Amino acid sequence: QRIDWDIQAAQKGGYKHFMLKEIFEQPLVVTNCLTGRLSANHARVTLPELEELSTPERLHIIACGTSFHAGLWAMYIMESWAKIPTSVEIASEYRYRDTILGKGDQVLVISQSGETADTLACLRKVKQQGAKVIGLCNVVGSSIARESDTVIYTQAGPEISVASTKAMCSQLVVLTLMALFWGRRKHVLTEAEETETLDALRRIPEQLEAALPAMREQANALARQYSGARSFLYLGRGPCYPLALEGALKLKEISYIHAEGYAAGEMKHGPIALIDPDFPTFALIMCDDLFPKVQSNLQEVQARNGKIIALTQDDAVLTLDSVWKIPRSRGPLDVFFALPALQLFAYEVADYLGKDVDQPRNLAKSVTVE
Ligand code: G6P
Repeated sequence: QRIDWDIQAAQKGGYKHFMLKEIFEQPLVVTNCLTGRLSANHARVTLPELEELSTPERLHIIACGTSFHAGLWAMYIMESWAKIPTSVEIASEYRYRDTILGKGDQVLVISQSGETADTLACLRKVKQQGAKVIGLCNVVGSSIARESDTVIYTQAGPEISVASTKAMCSQLVVLTLMALFWGRRKHVLTEAEETETLDALRRIPEQLEAALPAMREQANALARQYSGARSFLYLGRGPCYPLALEGALKLKEISYIHAEGYAAGEMKHGPIALIDPDFPTFALIMCDDLFPKVQSNLQEVQARNGKIIALTQDDAVLTLDSVWKIPRSRGPLDVFFALPALQLFAYEVADYLGKDVDQPRNLAKSVTVE
């Protein structure tokens, strides 16, 4: 008897696509990312990679694509936990601008592959200007890893699917640790705040592992309902704004449906003109201080007969077309549930439409040319 198998199928470990496998690997990715980075009693962050460097007076984060969205999310925690003024830049823009770096400023380049041409060019540019560069990379020994003054590895393992999923998750874990590290070193974050955040972070792998199967089912049901749309608006505020951008990017990349990510408060300055029953909105509305603000943005959409998928949490009371509840974590750490939800929705839509999920047309895993 002959058993047919191929190496790719074996590597997919029973999943239909690498992307799906990588989405489901995220609980393990969080665990691996934390390994060796906490003190013995789990109360403090240990990041030897940052020990030798001073704390940045200002942080300039530079990246492309999904890594840029991770950087944008980090801005919120760098400012609120570590009180470090932070700017986040698209590498292809930064490299040709007359950029200004102050004494004491540091640059953080984020790149899964460590080979993205624009990001690498920025690294070389700022090094020439005398800035210290921290690299946040997944691929060990990559160009960006080698040329940075210090490199922190995300330890996510190889990412095969062109659309990045678990790499972003790992970047978010390390960025969380960095903000806590600097916050404590500057004495702007209390020991209790650090410990409680780390406790919440350590709980995520188990919580996410338990939540993922139901999240996939929900994503599948919504995909069937909404995949006829030609265009989507993604809305988020605060730390959910970068996620709105990432959700829209994932959908575009693999389903080829046009999608735009917008800061919810900016909707009134343009996109609201587009709202009609055929233009659905995917809203991120977490149970935080910004809840009422996003809620009133969504009322504007409803008033124009726009359909809404609201990604929210267990305790939210919302009457909208589709309400998708995900578990809660601690403040910005809600991202570890919201991100997989967005990834799963894009995945299920693309798969439902029969697209080549792992190898989307015209895209490359690593863009080493300009
Ligand atoms: C390409 C990939 C994206 C990725 C971006 C930046 O466009 O398709 O998934 O986010 O490059 O890649 P990097 O390796 O620098 O994170």
